[in-house]
Amino acid sequence: MKKIVILISGRGSNLQALLSAQLPCTVTAVISNLADAGGLEIAKQHGITTQVVSHRDYADRASFDTALAKLIDGYQPDFIVLAGFMRILTAGFVNQYLGKLINIHPSLLPAYAGMNTHERALQDGVKIHGCTVHYVTPDLDHGPIIIQAAVAVMDNDSPQTLAARVLSEEHNIYTQAIRWLCTGQVTLNAGGKVRYTQQQVNGATLISPNLE
Ligand code: GRF
Repeated sequence: MKKIVILISGRGSNLQALLSAQLPCTVTAVISNLADAGGLEIAKQHGITTQVVSHRDYADRASFDTALAKLIDGYQPDFIVLAGFMRILTAGFVNQYLGKLINIHPSLLPAYAGMNTHERALQDGVKIHGCTVHYVTPDLDHGPIIIQAAVAVMDNDSPQTLAARVLSEEHNIYTQAIRWLCTGQVTLNAGGKVRYTQQQVNGATLISPNLE
């Protein structure tokens, strides 16, 4: 059984989805950079070891990342799953875990890398928005894409209502992606391309607003 470590900073709804999905892997630890992250309670309720490494205890990103890597390596994970982990990781850290470090981002990457994705999507008037699970590379939010989900943007959406619909799809695609990774159905090849053993694409089109 593959082992994963999950990194969080906040409420942990993606963590909750992963822990409830009965994935074919062992979650060996949940690590937060914030002691008050709600997700730590969720992990404890599932009987999972929790750890806090506060970035405030370190002089710079590099020393924080070194401490984080040391803690992670103690669990010997096959994958490190970022689930709302709100620290930018150094290239040194990321390169150490290429092919093992996975992230979920609340936009259809490469659109809206970075923060405040829902606000920016609404400001731009896009009609379709969504979320992306990808391998992490040093190029922030631009690593090889594993799976995406699209949602229609409603005329009366606020950043909160749009975020809620996207979040619900995040839970779907993150559990699917981690299941694929843990069963070896998705891999990253030497050329940095995502490979699937049985890729099913249904050819559906999302048009928004609807055609008459
Ligand atoms: C999610 O929207 C995720 O895509 C982003 O941070 C948020 C975390 O939410 N990286 P939660 O803590 O999983 O509820």
